[in-house]
Amino acid sequence: MSRTHDGQHRQRPARGAFSVESVRSRFPALARADPFIFFDNAAGAQVPQQVFDAVNRHLLECNVQRGGRYPKSREVDAGIARARQTVADFVNAWSPNEIAFGMNATSFVRIVSLAIGQTLGERNEIVVTDMDHEANVATWLALEREGAKFRWWKMRDDGTLHAEDLDALVSSRTRLVACTVTSNALGSIVDVAAAAKVAHAAGAEIFLDCVHFGPHGVIDVREWNCDYLVCSGYKIFAPHMGFLWGRDEALRNLPTFREEFIPDEPPVKIEAGTFVYENVAGMRAAIEYLASLTAEMGSRAPVGSRPNLVQSMTAIRDYEEKLSLELLGILQECGATVYGIRNKERIRERVPTFCFNLPSIGPAQVTEAMSRAEIGVRDGHMYSPRLMNRLGLGIESGAVRVSLVHYNTVQEIARFAEVLRELSRDG
Ligand SMILES: Cc1ncc(COP(=O)(O)O)c(C=O)c1O
Repeated sequence: MSRTHDGQHRQRPARGAFSVESVRSRFPALARADPFIFFDNAAGAQVPQQVFDAVNRHLLECNVQRGGRYPKSREVDAGIARARQTVADFVNAWSPNEIAFGMNATSFVRIVSLAIGQTLGERNEIVVTDMDHEANVATWLALEREGAKFRWWKMRDDGTLHAEDLDALVSSRTRLVACTVTSNALGSIVDVAAAAKVAHAAGAEIFLDCVHFGPHGVIDVREWNCDYLVCSGYKIFAPHMGFLWGRDEALRNLPTFREEFIPDEPPVKIEAGTFVYENVAGMRAAIEYLASLTAEMGSRAPVGSRPNLVQSMTAIRDYEEKLSLELLGILQECGATVYGIRNKERIRERVPTFCFNLPSIGPAQVTEAMSRAEIGVRDGHMYSPRLMNRLGLGIESGAVRVSLVHYNTVQEIARFAEVLRELSRDG
């Protein structure tokens, strides 16, 4: 135990854990909004001070176009190169050139799908899932005009995708499997390494939507052995932007749009035009923030290294497991229908993102009541209309989603629980 500045006793974080108080103090928006509770993180998370500082620094000190011979322009080039390396470490890429920066995840899925649409021959089948965000479904279905055929990898009733079910869907005609690493609605984590094995055994590629998993655990494109992966900055404590990782050879083979004088090489062949450099500076700072959590945990490894990131993201995952258990307990106590994994023994297979409904109150009424209590949660289809259909929910009403990240606390869950208990009693 140690004493805080106000003389209260505080539990020291366990070894391998970080202090949530200290984490929260690094996110100025949390204190500014107090007593508001941010429980809608799946739609976008807050950013730590160092991300603001990095964005501001860029705008104040080197807000010029890259590629010039003068120092400020060179500084922009160097900043982008450093950011590529940092993101490469974050996903465990082989090379920073496998990282492309751009607008958001959806536009990257579209860029890759437009390219793959031009390469369909005998292999014209694409596997999509009924659990994914629509960004990783509709973009592929749009290739029907190019002659693509589709196979549906369906979620099982336990609320997740099973790689064994993929086996029967792939063949020598499969060009690509497009699936999520984690459902943005249900929080279920997919065994993507097993899915990649099945896809590759059939000679197909695999495209992973890592947007929802991004803030919750270790991303490892080598271990997963995938071919493409997208993330959004605003889910991982960075500004609004996206990045794509692609296996070098896969990116080289993609026929993308580029001006004649742009080399047919990654990453520039994937990055048409100017992207938002200040946000790229913010993205690097966000990943450095994540890596720096290990210093809180007493690690002596050099800050910013891949081992640091692995340690931080593992600690986040362990902490969030406690949040998941707490939330699940409250939802079950209130008689909510929880969609997705709800078996406590399987809590490791999910992140603290829960979709639920109360028996006799509509989702919009629940989120309105939460809003009056200064708790931000969301209702609707979560951009996963096929999943809502699959769950037997109308897409206009859908479900309530509560989505937590590592700066959320058990105390916040207790306030959420008070409102939910009241609603379930009155309803
Ligand atoms: C799982 C998932 N995939 C894709 C997207 C789309 O990301 P973006 O807004 O960066 O295009 C989202 C956004 O919420 C998401 O949650």
